[in-house]
Amino acid sequence: MDRTESPTSVIELFTPDFFQEPHTALADLRGQAPAQPVATPNGLRTWLVTRYEDARALLADPRLSKDMRKGQELIPRNFIDEEKRQEFLKEAGSRRQFAHELSEHMLDSDQPDHTRLRRLVGRAFTTRRVEALTPRIVELVDELLDAIALEDRTDLMDALAFPVPFTVICWLLGVPPDDRAEFRRWSNLLVSGVGTDEVRDASVAMVDYLRALIAEKRANPADDMITDLVNAGEDGDQLNENELMAMAFLLLVAGHETTVNLIGNGTYALLTHPDQRAKLAADSSLWPNAVEELLRFEGPVTNATWRYTTEPVDVGGVLIPEGEFVTISIGAAGRDPSHYEEPDELDITRRATAGLAFGHGIHHCLGAPLARLEGQIVLSRLFARFPGLSLAVPPGELRWRFSLMMRGLEELPVLHG
Ligand code: HEM
Repeated sequence: MDRTESPTSVIELFTPDFFQEPHTALADLRGQAPAQPVATPNGLRTWLVTRYEDARALLADPRLSKDMRKGQELIPRNFIDEEKRQEFLKEAGSRRQFAHELSEHMLDSDQPDHTRLRRLVGRAFTTRRVEALTPRIVELVDELLDAIALEDRTDLMDALAFPVPFTVICWLLGVPPDDRAEFRRWSNLLVSGVGTDEVRDASVAMVDYLRALIAEKRANPADDMITDLVNAGEDGDQLNENELMAMAFLLLVAGHETTVNLIGNGTYALLTHPDQRAKLAADSSLWPNAVEELLRFEGPVTNATWRYTTEPVDVGGVLIPEGEFVTISIGAAGRDPSHYEEPDELDITRRATAGLAFGHGIHHCLGAPLARLEGQIVLSRLFARFPGLSLAVPPGELRWRFSLMMRGLEELPVLHG
């Protein structure tokens, strides 16, 4: 491609204000054009796609690659300013180590690798295993609610939204309880989407940790998914050491960072929409539909769906050249007025589907059944237990995470009286 074709005007979208309230800015962009170049906080150019039909089509379009190993090579040429590019090149060695060791997983793979990896993990991530967890999740949630009942004021992110999905994914995979605090810290840094030394150190620590965990499961097999993944195989095909590590990493991180924010954002949305909450109090059979609507309205993944073009791709008349990054804004698609009536209204009785909240196409979320199960259990039990639950601060004082990957609250202080 002739690089002079690259766009010169790039929108500085991801400001602190954007993370506090992204929907107005996303609606503006959606109204202006189907795809626009925006700057990531790291100084990279990516094309943001904001309309539902385009988003759905591109999520499943094989001309867009998710192969992170090859995608790394495109990074230097997609920097907006030369200084940031030089900075990146200086640190490229250590970054590559991260990319190779933790990225040999299916979310960063194209066909045919993706099919192979997804089939192997599918054998370990069974519906039976997920459904069997229901009574344990209920018990865990009730214990956490008991603890919350003892305090007047609670940060629900810390007391509920985080511990449930995190504990559940650790149970599933077989991560020992003592290791969980460190693990949480690394995971948080890694999804921040910001490249700092701290993030790089966290990725190195994560690699060492997972290597040791896999060795432990080989030596002492248990009834958990990492053991199953170590043994998973058909026709002599097995996950190699890096693939195993990357798979465990993907499941651990994707398995909780997202669901934490389904719980946090969902609670927040209901606390600020008392009419919707009243409907749920009157009819608890509405909960499954409500969770779908909450995923559409304020889902955990607003923008984190990066891909790159392997050939020029026309998006509604905008030609994205080859070798450019593309970010499909699930958050913007979920509020597209050409697909949803009154999209900015939370309506838990609308015939809802999560829409694109779990992605679409070959990478559609593997953990969606688990996330829905956890979301329904946690939110329904929380609001049944504390009918008077309220925000402890005005909504405008809440801080949202500065993260390109996840939409979620830093803290969710509530009063339950
Ligand atoms: C993929 C969202 C929970 C595991 C995805 C994708 C999205 C998503 C949007 C596709 C990304 C893309 O195409 O670029 C969510 C949301 C969740 C959630 C909103 C919670 C509300 C979970 C859980 C697990 C999980 C609980 C695991 C236990 C995965 C995996 C993939 C994936 C393994 C990659 C699938 C593939 O590449 O074939 N998720 N996720 N997710 N998710 Fe989730």
